[in-house]
Amino acid sequence: MSTASFAAIAPGNLAVVTGAAGGIGLAAARAFAAAGMRVVLVDRSGEALEAAAASIDGAIAHTVDVSDRAAMHALAGRIVAEHGTVALLMNNAGIGAGGDVFADAEVWDAVLGVNLLGVLNGVQSFVPAMLDHGSPALVINTGSKQGITQPPGNTAYNVSKAGVKALTEGLAHTLRTRCGDRVSAHLLVPGFTFTGMTRPGSTEKPAGAWTPEQVVALMLERLAAGDFYIVCPDNETTSEQDAKRIAWAAGDVAENRPALSR
Ligand code: NAI
Repeated sequence: MSTASFAAIAPGNLAVVTGAAGGIGLAAARAFAAAGMRVVLVDRSGEALEAAAASIDGAIAHTVDVSDRAAMHALAGRIVAEHGTVALLMNNAGIGAGGDVFADAEVWDAVLGVNLLGVLNGVQSFVPAMLDHGSPALVINTGSKQGITQPPGNTAYNVSKAGVKALTEGLAHTLRTRCGDRVSAHLLVPGFTFTGMTRPGSTEKPAGAWTPEQVVALMLERLAAGDFYIVCPDNETTSEQDAKRIAWAAGDVAENRPALSR
């Protein structure tokens, strides 16, 4: 394995998860806490965030909009000052708003602002201190299959998630150059998952959908294996062709960047 090991960093260390008021982010925060980490939950949705934090022993909650660069920088400074260095950063907050090429500027601004710039803000705010601290650390960015397969009609979201893929690959390269394997970056590519984003207000999981807990279990398994690219396998809701494209894209990452283990 050639990445920072989750098992090695977990006990007692600090994990920051954005978009942690529900869905995949909350499931991840619970798993990190269960592994012995102190967790910081970040979300823009204050009420849901408080409820989420109350469900995890010792969790700290911060209501912040990840698309607000200054607020993210201030948050990182405050967390490091009050709680010490962050060992795990999961940039996971996202919105599912669609929008074709000619969607209103507001739609594009919102989707790119949260899904792509929100991840960049997290990286630029938290990673410098992780690099300076000298101990092993992990960064996980949540992308999407749609960032790889680019299904028609949802262009703004697709572009934002394709950007997260490119950003994470660039980050992994920079980290490797700066500190070898000590701080590693990973791209989580969830499959279709039953959350508030995909089924708002529903209690019935569609057949073939992942649960957030399943996504997180797979993520921890792949992190332990040192994978850069964590792709939830296909399910019955995605086409065979999509699966082939995803396999190709994942293979392409390994082929063009042999230094990145997967
Ligand atoms: P969710 O809606 O349950 O969770 C997303 C969280 O992000 C919410 O708590 C929301 O309040 C928060 N959030 C949204 N905008 C924010 C902002 N500006 N600042 C801070 N927090 C903000 O959805 P889910 O499914 O758990 O999504 C998590 C990530 O997984 C997202 O990035 C999403 O794009 C991605 N994803 C989800 C898939 C699915 O099928 N559910 C599939 C592929 C990717």
